[in-house]
Amino acid sequence: MQIYKEKQALRELVKTFKKGGFSIGFVPTMGALHQGHISLVKQALASCDRVVASIFVNPTQFDNPNDLEKYPRTFEEDIFLLENLDENIIIFSPRPSEIYGNEVSPEHFSFDGLEFEMEGKYRKGHFDGVGTVIKRLFEIVQPDKAFFGEKDFQQLQIIRKLTEKNHWNTEIIGCPIDRETNGLARSSRNERLSPEERQKAAFIYETLQHVKKEFGIKSVPEVTSRVKELFDQNSGLKLEYFEIANEATLKSIQEPVNGEKYRAFIAAYSGDIRLIDNLALN
Ligand code: PAJ
Repeated sequence: MQIYKEKQALRELVKTFKKGGFSIGFVPTMGALHQGHISLVKQALASCDRVVASIFVNPTQFDNPNDLEKYPRTFEEDIFLLENLDENIIIFSPRPSEIYGNEVSPEHFSFDGLEFEMEGKYRKGHFDGVGTVIKRLFEIVQPDKAFFGEKDFQQLQIIRKLTEKNHWNTEIIGCPIDRETNGLARSSRNERLSPEERQKAAFIYETLQHVKKEFGIKSVPEVTSRVKELFDQNSGLKLEYFEIANEATLKSIQEPVNGEKYRAFIAAYSGDIRLIDNLALN
């Protein structure tokens, strides 16, 4: 297993890959790996000659120092999972100073408004932090393809926008959401749920499936108030937002238009644990 902590050493390796004509796949993560992350790495292995996975808890994307502090760090287990999958995976796990030098602060970006929708309303500055780290990681890894989960659909669209605006030569691949058997989208945060809460949290995906059935039959406002009602009746979870939004603009809609793609998005709390999920509607 090759573990790189210094960007310069990884840059040298990337150079040899480029010279050898090998394609590079990249899977950025913040560690605490689970099968959702692994599904991305599998896709990368299937379509690229060399695969780099980064494990870096990016300080600039946390709006709350307490969250950053509490973020699970399970480096040994992460390495074990990746090694078992394929011992040729290259791991990049830099210290913050490798990425940020002495100044741990984000750059500011415009993502043409994508950053102001949904998560952007509740996590101030979050996407500037994500944009900053992805820009710096891409500069080092120079991937031909980079793999991101649809679990964080807004992040995926923002990274597509960042890549397009900068004319980077990286293809952004969106990967389907990997779910637990009860339908709950996999997330490192699920580990903090009690078995009972974990079971109850499946309600999020059940609701999304319900929305998909009703979409196109009932109006968007009707579906929306039904979802709010369902959450009110379900004492276990507190709804933060529900939106039906256009996939390209992420703007929430009142009425679908032919030829456009839509998705339903939910953010909800189980106790103090924030869960997000989404589902394509058409
Ligand atoms: P992290 O939360 O570790 O997620 C890394 C990647 O795994 C993201 O692309 C995320 O969408 C994907 N992922 C997580 N759970 C998934 C699931 N259940 N199914 C499919 N994909 C899943 O997202 C980040 O880290 C960071 O913001 C990062 C992009 C690394 C920048 O710091």
